[in-house]
Amino acid sequence: MSTDDRDRAAPSTAEAVVLVGGRGVRLRPLTLSAPKPMLPTAGVPFLRHLLSRIRAAGIEHVVLGTSYKAEVFAEHFGDGADLGLRLEYAVEPQPLDTAGAIRNVADRLSADDVLVFNGDILSGVDLTDLLATHRSTAADVTLHLVKVSDPRRFGCVPTDADGRVTAFLEKTDDPPVDQVNAGCYVFRREVIDRIPAGRPVSVERETFPELLASGARVQGHVDTSYWLDVGTPEAFVQGSADLVRGVVPTHALPGGPGEALLLDGASVAPGASVGGGSAVGAGCVVEDGARVEGSVLFDGVRVAAGAVVERSVVGAGATIGSGAVLRGAVIGDRAHVGAGCELLDGVRVWPGVELPEHGVRFSADC
Ligand code: GTP
Repeated sequence: MSTDDRDRAAPSTAEAVVLVGGRGVRLRPLTLSAPKPMLPTAGVPFLRHLLSRIRAAGIEHVVLGTSYKAEVFAEHFGDGADLGLRLEYAVEPQPLDTAGAIRNVADRLSADDVLVFNGDILSGVDLTDLLATHRSTAADVTLHLVKVSDPRRFGCVPTDADGRVTAFLEKTDDPPVDQVNAGCYVFRREVIDRIPAGRPVSVERETFPELLASGARVQGHVDTSYWLDVGTPEAFVQGSADLVRGVVPTHALPGGPGEALLLDGASVAPGASVGGGSAVGAGCVVEDGARVEGSVLFDGVRVAAGAVVERSVVGAGATIGSGAVLRGAVIGDRAHVGAGCELLDGVRVWPGVELPEHGVRFSADC
């Protein structure tokens, strides 16, 4: 199926809400300077990929539910005109959690059906099909459910023969089904109005269980297309690489899909290699003999001669010394990794930290 097929236009009466107010703790230190949905992913802020798919599905009005670093979104996206969208921003004085954030934007919505997205999900779900399920079953809320290989990491969501959700189950070692909440919903407008206002409310812990208990129709839309929650560093690099390689649909990828994406002014020495879906930010320099594989380099990064960067994220302006090895590491903005250092297994270096030269091996955060 082509990207265009997956993005068949939805009836224009639907509107969208994207939840982007989380603090992104699991992606620290990258999220100390930018909210998670604004992190550069395959060359553009992560959120731009999601907004491009929403627009391609025929939806024009989108409200962002913001809290943490709220101003950053409007500074980048403005009124949304360059995406063909009418973008609005709702700012929570205190984080209202997922359902509280949806309730907080209610007075900006006028459509009967509202698509709600977690702002950190990459997915290939057909939004028109999702809306069609919602309408054909006259559901109060429809959840996109995704089948995963290891459902023990998630709360699972069983459905009956008609696709109605029967329970919201906590994480367990022996889940009865392999389908989980994919973080994308269609809400009937009246359901949003009934969420308590002005206090934190969680969709998963409060709103959905209460809807089930009250006999509301909570429908599942089970889908097996691409799905990834990019909330951890490992998933973030995976998601970026999948976007660069064209594995997941987007209309916001600069240039066409390929093994690497080089932004303006990035230079890669002839004897260096960059691949595995790596994204190399503007003004980056990758020196002779260096190897960058399946990684994300934000703008202005220098990878010195002979260094190896695999499955890692390197923050803006950071420098990686010659012969250093990074595997599954997160390097904060402007940090310096000394020549010959080895950073392995999820080590995180905080912004501006300077690691000494010559063969230091780290496997804990610094
Ligand atoms: P972690 O801190 O790493 O768990 O990430 P997170 O803060 O983004 O939390 P989580 O991944 O559980 O959030 C799921 C989605 O809901 C993300 O898109 C968040 O931006 C969003 N979200 C979470 N809490 C709030 C909130 O209080 N307000 C708003 N507007 N969005 C929220």
